[in-house]
Amino acid sequence: MASAEFDLGKVSEGMQVVIKWRGKPLFVRYRTPKEIKEAEDVKLSELKDPQADADRVKKGKEQYLILVGSCTHLGCVPTFGAGDFGGWFCPCHGSHYDTSGRIRKGPAPLNLAVPEYEYLSDTKVKIG
Ligand code: FES
Repeated sequence: MASAEFDLGKVSEGMQVVIKWRGKPLFVRYRTPKEIKEAEDVKLSELKDPQADADRVKKGKEQYLILVGSCTHLGCVPTFGAGDFGGWFCPCHGSHYDTSGRIRKGPAPLNLAVPEYEYLSDTKVKIG
């Protein structure tokens, strides 16, 4: 399957860019310090699909979150910056994701998936 290269310099702080990857939307989000702290401060015991924020980003690049933009309930595309936890909100059946893309409320069973990716340079990533 094809991999994709993306320049993170195209994303402004507090925003996300959506790119297409293997026929699916991919969210590339540049998190603010507040959004990172919110994600890091959540206790794993509060999560339906327990996963630390540190395990969803690369060390030293915590501001960048790269996710498959497909709700883990039935595959709708969640809306950026919406919902009760400031991450994403899926309008199809009301799933709320936090600023780490983890499921916090609603019918979705799992966190938004983190694809395999690696840094090629300070701002360039290879996804897949
Ligand atoms: Fe997202 Fe159902 S597809 S909540």
